[in-house]
Amino acid sequence: MSPEDIEKLQFSFGQMVPKKDLIAEKFYRRLFEVAPAVRPLFKGPIDQQGNKLVLSLKQIILSLKQPNDLMSFLSKLAKRHVDYGAEPAHYAVVGEVLLWTFQDVMGDDFTPELKDLWGAAYGVISDAMIKASAQHSL
Ligand code: HEM
Repeated sequence: MSPEDIEKLQFSFGQMVPKKDLIAEKFYRRLFEVAPAVRPLFKGPIDQQGNKLVLSLKQIILSLKQPNDLMSFLSKLAKRHVDYGAEPAHYAVVGEVLLWTFQDVMGDDFTPELKDLWGAAYGVISDAMIKASAQHSL
């Protein structure tokens, strides 16, 4: 991703921050509708989970410019996810639901360009997490 792309993602994230509770609420409602099988993996209160998700996205977006920090953060996050029961196939559905939620909550602010950029960023993140989970499972 180019520095300009990262700036755009950071700007877009900034637009989402005031709506983070709504984003988290809609994200989980939609995720459990389209993938009910993952519901039992989530043990804690969902409102706190939503906050954690948004905070981790913030950290990821901020560290896109420091790939080494990012990869070590994602690798640890991925290993914890293996223990939560997350499987490689779940990453695609989570990515789809995330983009759906951003579109739904942000409306016209979530331009086609931003949708592509978020899709690309999620691709980088989920590829790294899936690879790290495969190593953890060995
Ligand atoms: C980019 C992708 C993802 C990010 C950034 C992310 C982020 C997080 C964060 C920050 C936590 C809080 C606990 C911790 O830090 O270890 C968490 C917990 C969790 N995540 Fe994810 N996650 C992602 C993908 C997924 C996927 C694909 C699944 C599969 C269903 C999943 C299922 C879970 C579960 C089950 C928990 C624990 C919830 C609980 O203890 O109740 N996550 N996630």
